[in-house]
Amino acid sequence: QKIGVVIVAAGSGSRFGDPLPKQYHQLGGKSLLAHCVDCFVGHTSADLIQIVYNPVHQDWYEDAMSDVACKADIPMPVNGGETRQQSVLNGLRALAGKSPDVVLIHDAARPGISDAVISRVLHALKTHAGAIPTLPVADTIKQTNENNIILRTISRDSLHRAQTPQGFIFKTILDAHSQFEGQEQTDDASLLEQLGLDVVCVEGATANDKITLRDDFGRAQNWIAPTEM
Ligand code: C5P
Repeated sequence: QKIGVVIVAAGSGSRFGDPLPKQYHQLGGKSLLAHCVDCFVGHTSADLIQIVYNPVHQDWYEDAMSDVACKADIPMPVNGGETRQQSVLNGLRALAGKSPDVVLIHDAARPGISDAVISRVLHALKTHAGAIPTLPVADTIKQTNENNIILRTISRDSLHRAQTPQGFIFKTILDAHSQFEGQEQTDDASLLEQLGLDVVCVEGATANDKITLRDDFGRAQNWIAPTEM
């Protein structure tokens, strides 16, 4: 089966607080984006990689891609949109002409992606329309009102932290994204959930946590730098 990959890297990283978006920062000698690309290129199954970027970042993009070990078969990036959801849809549309059977959708802000996580998602896709890597929630979760007063404690037993790459049957996720264009969901599984389709959770990895704030870099350094420097 043909496996497509969409890596979304069109965000500006406003919570990160630096003009250089986080996906273009270096970690252990290469950009976060290059870490992601190298992992998918290195995985035996990933055939078609489509990066989604913001053309305003062209120079940063080229710098970041110069760190990629193997550039073969990486087509030109396509332009992202205002929201992550729109960026993913643009990436899926770019892949549509190549007719992948399944697609893995990944955040460029997760440089600690591994072969093992990719393989678990792909394996689960043999029996489900969607599969995503998740981790259990470790903290006690409180729901509050607008004054920060606790309303209730939510049992964490059935809660999961969603990561990427989120994998789907290509046609199913492209149809769902087309149908729900304009929403602002923060992941792709949400769209299949709205259609009542089963998405299964498989084991994610701590190293695959998203880089959102500057402090996250210190944590990521521990996971990535020792093995790659
Ligand atoms: O902002 P957040 O960390 O949730 O973004 C997750 C991923 O989605 C990042 O890799 C970011 O570059 C990407 N993104 C995008 N287009 C947007 C917003 C975010 O490709 N408009």
